[in-house]
Formats: sequence, structure tokens, C-alpha cells
Amino acid sequence: MPSPATPTADRISDLIELIRPEVREEKAYRVDTAVDRAAKLDQNESPYGLPPEIEQAAQEALRMTDWNRYPSDRPHRLVTALAEKLDWPEEGIIVGRGSNELTPTVGLAFVQPGTPVVLPSPMFALYGSIVRVFGGREVKVAPEADFSHSADAVIAAMHESKAPLAVVCSPNNPTGANFSHEDLTRMAAAAPGFLLIDEAYFEFIEGPTAVDLMRTTPNVLVMRTFSKAMGLAGVRLGYLMGHPTIIEELQKPRLPFLIDRVSESIGLAMLERDDLIRERVAVLNGERVKLRAALAEMEGVETMDSSANFFIMRTPLPPAKLLSSLLDEGVRIRNVSGYPELAGWVRASVGLPAENRVFLDALKRVLS
Ligand SMILES: Cc1ncc(COP(=O)(O)O)c(C=O)c1O
Repeated sequence: MPSPATPTADRISDLIELIRPEVREEKAYRVDTAVDRAAKLDQNESPYGLPPEIEQAAQEALRMTDWNRYPSDRPHRLVTALAEKLDWPEEGIIVGRGSNELTPTVGLAFVQPGTPVVLPSPMFALYGSIVRVFGGREVKVAPEADFSHSADAVIAAMHESKAPLAVVCSPNNPTGANFSHEDLTRMAAAAPGFLLIDEAYFEFIEGPTAVDLMRTTPNVLVMRTFSKAMGLAGVRLGYLMGHPTIIEELQKPRLPFLIDRVSESIGLAMLERDDLIRERVAVLNGERVKLRAALAEMEGVETMDSSANFFIMRTPLPPAKLLSSLLDEGVRIRNVSGYPELAGWVRASVGLPAENRVFLDALKRVLS
């Protein structure tokens, strides 16, 4: 294969200068996704694989599909199924390749240079990155001592900045803290602009959801994913919901044809399996409680309360050392100490009972 001419370093620097400064200043998202360890507890995924009938639905879709034809632009069947399930108009739902893929659509719709966007911190880092890439201004809200956020502080930030958009994750990643429904209701009512509620982990908590709130409050947008409790992180499906007239506007900057037919079929089949998802969520919630109780018995280990399938913890070891020692023992967890508020902390996802035992045993050895 011919190799490209070797350009001079000066030529490359000149070319790099043509890329927008907001982009150059970002760090590319890189995460090691190797599935090579006895306990993979680093990405808040579901530890459960595809049920056999859903694997079959995927194989059938693969066989039947006209691969030379474009898939549905929306995708219509999945949007219809979500609309029925959630009792919300189809026109108020956008499906994307994971909720990640919908965040630039939100950025394109709301964020111009200088636009303030309220973001409690620490929170799922992609939102901050999108705001910065579009030249917006992050209006951060500091956490309380337990890493939860005060709704009053978020409301104050919304009013001071007159932000057209505030984003909250409930439960939040990486902390696992969640806002009460009452707090979400108050924030939505008080917001001068939109309140986007990311409910990636909503299945792990009980009670009314942001979708319920959206029914009475038109400035609420809800982002959800098939990647967590539904166990389809590798399939890439997520959705954004809002008042149909608002969503009609958000359809304009989104890219068409994002969902392939196989992913759509898998998503459709999984939407039928509420029973299975509830069962799995109950196991994982129970495992989280057990794991934290076992960790509380270990000297020098501290964990924080969480409403999701992960929690943060710290030990006497520095995070990088802890992670590498656990990796040697076959356990992957996540270093979250790069968040300025979380220096010294790491995050562990809740796995299957056997994985959690591997994790606890490994941690005992590493700390002894
Ligand atoms: C709060 C939150 N939102 C969204 C996502 C990403 O979801 P998806 O896989 O649908 O892109 C994550 C994944 O970690 C998350 O924690």
C-alpha cells in the first residue's frame, strides 16, 4: 500500500489550527472496553447477556432484511412501540444510537457560543463536553457533602444564568445520587428554560419518573437508554422525549437513518421483557446493598449510597494503584478521581453475584 507523503510538523500544526479551538481544547473520549476479566465492573453495564429469544429476533432480522435499502428514517416501529408503552405521542420521541448520540442533537438545538447551560457537577461528562464543543458556557453547581445536589442550588444557578437549558442526571453518574421526584418537579417548575432529565438508570428506582413529570410540564425533556437495565449497551439504542412540538424542532438537527434494522428488532423484542428487566434489576439492587455492606466491614473502605447499579468508594490506596492492583486480580473498576470533586474516589458497577465475590476477595487481598 502506498504510504502518504510525510508532511512536515509545521504543515500539520498549520492544519490543526484550522480546527475550531473549542474542539482542539477537548480530550477525546477513550475507554478501555476489553471484556477480558473475571469481573468487569467499570462501565455501569448490565452483567446479563441477551435472552435466547431476543438473540433469535436479531438473527431473523439479519436474515430477512433488505440490506441494500435504507432503514426507516426514525425508526418507525420502535418509536411506535415506545409511544404505546409510555403512553406518549410518537411525535414526541426521537430514537438514537444510544443516548450519547442524541446529545450533539441537543447541543445543536440549544447551544451557541456563550450560551449558559446549568450542569450540576460531578455528572456524566459528555454533557459538559458537548456544551464546550458548541462554545457554550458551563454553569456548574457544586455538590453537597454526600455528592448529591441541592435543587435550590440548581434553581438559583438557572435563574442567575438565565440558562435556556439545564441538565440533570437522576440517578446521577458517577455518584449514584438521585433527585427526589419533588425536587425534579420544583426544578422543572422554576426553570426559566428547559430541564433535560437524563434517566439512564431510572429502572433502578421506584416511584414516579421524569416521563410522568413531562406530562404536565412542557419544558421537561427526558433522555433514556437501552444500555443499562435493559442490557443492550452493545446494540446502541437510546431515546429523547419531550412535547411533540418541541421534539419536532429537535428532529431538524438530528441525523437520519441512525438505527439499523437489527438494532431496531432487538430493541422491540426487549421492550416486551419488562418482567425480565424487573427481575434483573431486583437482583442487582440486592447485590449493591450486599456489596456495600461487605465493603463497610473492610477497614479504611468507604462507600457512598447509590440508587443505581454502581456506587463510588474510596480506600486507603490511591485510585490508580488500586485499579492496577485489582486488574492484576482480574477485576476492572473505574477511576473517577479525574472529576475535581471526586479526588481519591473510584466507581464500581454491580455485577453478577459471582463477579461481586471475585471483586470482594480481590479487594481484600489488595488491601491486606
Ligand atoms: C447518565 C448517563 N447517560 C447516558 C449514558 C450513555 O448511554 P448510551 O449507552 O445510551 O449512549 C450513560 C452511560 O454511562 C450515563 O451514565
